[in-house]
Amino acid sequence: MKVVIAGGSGLIGTALRRALSAAGHEVVILTRTEGPATSSPGVRAVTWDPPHRGDWVGEIADAAAVINLAGASIGHWPWTSRRKQVLRDSRLAATSALIEALTALPEGARPGVLLNASGTDVYEGRDETPAGEDTPTARSFLARLCLDWEAEAARAEGLGVRVVLLRTSSVIARDAPYLRVVSLPYRLLVGGRIGSGRQWVSWVDLADAVGLYLFALETESIDGPLNVSAPDPRSQVAYARALAAALHRPGRFWTPGWMVRLLLRDQATLALGSRRVWPAKALAAGYVFQRPRLEEALESALKGFG
Ligand SMILES: NC(=O)c1ccc[n+]([C@@H]2O[C@H](COP(=O)([O-])OP(=O)(O)OC[C@H]3O[C@@H](n4cnc5c(N)ncnc54)[C@H](OP(=O)(O)O)[C@@H]3O)[C@@H](O)[C@H]2O)c1
Repeated sequence: MKVVIAGGSGLIGTALRRALSAAGHEVVILTRTEGPATSSPGVRAVTWDPPHRGDWVGEIADAAAVINLAGASIGHWPWTSRRKQVLRDSRLAATSALIEALTALPEGARPGVLLNASGTDVYEGRDETPAGEDTPTARSFLARLCLDWEAEAARAEGLGVRVVLLRTSSVIARDAPYLRVVSLPYRLLVGGRIGSGRQWVSWVDLADAVGLYLFALETESIDGPLNVSAPDPRSQVAYARALAAALHRPGRFWTPGWMVRLLLRDQATLALGSRRVWPAKALAAGYVFQRPRLEEALESALKGFG
């Protein structure tokens, strides 16, 4: 089948397009700039400039599936009000451009499914019990951003397209910017507890992030929110212990919460916010995790480092 991936040049997109083309699918990625990050065997790159229409719209017309990963990075420092606007606009403009392209197609010619990225930030602070997909959502900046992004994507349901909203936890992979950032204090020998250390950290190995996108693509019964998160959320203290062990570094340092807030301001939520996520729908639908345990995922991603 033909699969179009918007934002397919990034961490998840690169791994996903490799898996799709290895499985024999025709893969087209929509990118703002063609370059080394967009080229891989069996994959075609087409430029786009959302929200503007262009030749890329023709690629949607005969696709069986559209995957939307496009969005400016949440991790870049600092979150000025201008940067926050870019985080929102990049996601909403790309998604609404895709929805407009789907709307313009005749009913029988639309792709059967839209897989849209989102984040488990929607559950921030909802941590008394592990959050499944039906847990009430939060109201933080990131939660609102994800929910608005999801609402834009969900417009495709009205067009007869199956929509899956892949609420993704921090991805663990060798090349993941997230892992580089959280590992840095350990390399500088100041890794360990952050704030109370009781906040929950949810994560997913890149192999399972890709696995769950493929699972959502193939499983017709799945629609709506889908937690892309390993069944092993940890307290930050327990996460720090596992990270220190994988990096062969001490992890006994304590960074007080006030210091993180002073340095990162609103962005401190990435280190101090609590996300206790459970992949309820994926497990109920029979998905088997390739790396369900944190130690395994970290060891695999950090092998050779240290
Ligand atoms: N990785 C994670 O831990 C994680 C966790 C939760 C949610 N997610 C979400 O899942 C999606 C994919 O994640 P990822 O890690 O693969 O992200 P990524 O590596 O940052 O890639 C995102 C892609 O979005 C495109 N993009 C960047 N800025 C854009 C802008 N201003 N307008 C339109 N497109 C833009 C880029 O493609 P081009 O430069 O080729 O246009 C980029 O390759 C992201 O939207 C991310 O927020 C990721």
